[in-house]
Amino acid sequence: MGPKIDVLGIGCDDAGNFSVAAAKALNEAEIIFASDEQAALIRSYFSQLKAQFESYPRPISKLEKSLADDQHKKIVMLALGDPLFYGIGAILLRFLPAERLRFHPAISSLQAALSRFSVPWNDLSVISLHGRALSSFAGSIGSKGRYGILTDAKNSPQRIAKELVKIGQENALVRVAESLGRKDERLSIYNAMELADCKQHFSPLLVLVVDIV
Ligand SMILES: C[S@@+](CC[C@H](N)C(=O)[O-])C[C@H]1O[C@@H](n2cnc3c(N)ncnc32)[C@H](O)[C@@H]1O
Repeated sequence: MGPKIDVLGIGCDDAGNFSVAAAKALNEAEIIFASDEQAALIRSYFSQLKAQFESYPRPISKLEKSLADDQHKKIVMLALGDPLFYGIGAILLRFLPAERLRFHPAISSLQAALSRFSVPWNDLSVISLHGRALSSFAGSIGSKGRYGILTDAKNSPQRIAKELVKIGQENALVRVAESLGRKDERLSIYNAMELADCKQHFSPLLVLVVDIV
């Protein structure tokens, strides 16, 4: 078995929010797997890294082979927020034993959004629409409650708001947190009815915190 693979979450502040152990893993890494955006962010926080950057393979199922080829090297894998929260962690655990992995989570984007809006999340239900069909959404929403929603460019805030209106929740309070920790971070609050018709262009990187009242 090769060295442990360090899986690092990039946080939602302007320095990535890394622990001492995570920074050490980055400085010692020989290979860093990252998306283009993650690679650019890491290079802006750590200018002296000696590692070679590799993109995540597509489809992601090819990752097992990429890692097997480099199994004796010191590998860091970058993720957003907490890698074990709707992230690369679950994918890695499909083919690697837990002992082979060392996770360094940052707070998740949803946690960061809740903090920005000063909203407690004791009773939060989480829905991920990232890469998923919007048709599953209505069935996941109950009559009352608070929902944290991870989403993508396709399932935009307007499309989600239209679904809320369709199920009679036009008064739902929808908080939108875009590009958390990036230069273009923006926070806004709507009710579902006004958001459904809103012409605003939103960042593709966003989470929603929705209250059904
Ligand atoms: C594959 S999930 C990963 C979630 C991540 N592991 C976490 O803990 O936040 C990707 C989704 O997370 C959300 N996300 C991640 N980083 C974000 C950020 N900086 N600002 C807003 N949303 C973010 C978006 O909804 C994005 O589509």
